[in-house]
Amino acid sequence: MKDFQTTYGPWALVAGASEGLGAAFAESLAARGLNLILVARREPQLMAFAEELRHRYAVAVETQALDLAEPESGERFIRSLTQDVGLLVCNAAYSAVGRFQDVPLPQLQQILAVNTAAPLALTRELLPHLVERGRGGVVLMSSLSGGQGSANIATYAATKAFNTVLAEGLWQEMGEQGIDVIASCAGAIRTPGYLNAQKGGEAPGILDAHEVAEETLAALGSAPVVIPGRLNKWVGFMMQRLLPKASAVRLMSKNTKELQ
Ligand SMILES: NC(=O)c1ccc[n+]([C@@H]2O[C@H](COP(=O)([O-])OP(=O)(O)OC[C@H]3O[C@@H](n4cnc5c(N)ncnc54)[C@H](OP(=O)(O)O)[C@@H]3O)[C@@H](O)[C@H]2O)c1
Repeated sequence: MKDFQTTYGPWALVAGASEGLGAAFAESLAARGLNLILVARREPQLMAFAEELRHRYAVAVETQALDLAEPESGERFIRSLTQDVGLLVCNAAYSAVGRFQDVPLPQLQQILAVNTAAPLALTRELLPHLVERGRGGVVLMSSLSGGQGSANIATYAATKAFNTVLAEGLWQEMGEQGIDVIASCAGAIRTPGYLNAQKGGEAPGILDAHEVAEETLAALGSAPVVIPGRLNKWVGFMMQRLLPKASAVRLMSKNTKELQ
């Protein structure tokens, strides 16, 4: 088994770390002794969370307030880094819920910018450093919604498919150079983002954020894709392998129509 700190330390960068799953990733990494660079837009949240992590885990934590929807923000930030970053977690995401025809184009473009252009740029700009080290990792946060199209979140789902397929290709390409890449295709996670968007009750198989972070980090290096949670694994298998595509789209759309 790999020593996590040697392979992925001494620094990890978590994009979208001010709350929810990103904060859970940060905590799991701090518990493994990694120093952290936390990125999100809301500086006060980042700074308060960083202080908490320093106090609880005795690791160094730096913060960067950054809007990843801004063109070239991700690549400029990576180029400015002086720390030896061995692990990148691309977790930040944006979703505008609603019928495609009702969502203004700038919002659809923001989904693309945060969910696809930003992880692409962060990963591309960090990889030469990881290759030079000959070890390291990249986590791309994806979703079970990326396995098929879905009403009400068509653009978001498409961006998640992008992350899964990108991770699969990089798993092969970068794995040959000692870099572990994984897509985490999560089902529902109890985060502020999910709870704000959910009209009805919680989805079956919903997980806490720390469970998703832990299962994802445990799988890093062993597979191109992980689906956290036993029920979600079964759902993923059914949706992607057993059901005809039309049935999978209808079934997923029944759930996503509950979002607001
Ligand atoms: N929750 C679920 O049920 C679920 C299911 C499957 C997959 N996922 C995936 O898991 C990841 C985390 O989800 P979550 O529910 O924890 O999300 P969330 O609660 O909405 O948090 C999203 C994080 O991204 C940051 N962020 C959003 N837009 C940003 C921008 N333009 N620039 C920089 N940072 C930005 C937010 O911080 P600021 O607002 O401070 O910028 C926040 O830290 C996402 O990739 C999501 O697609 C979630």
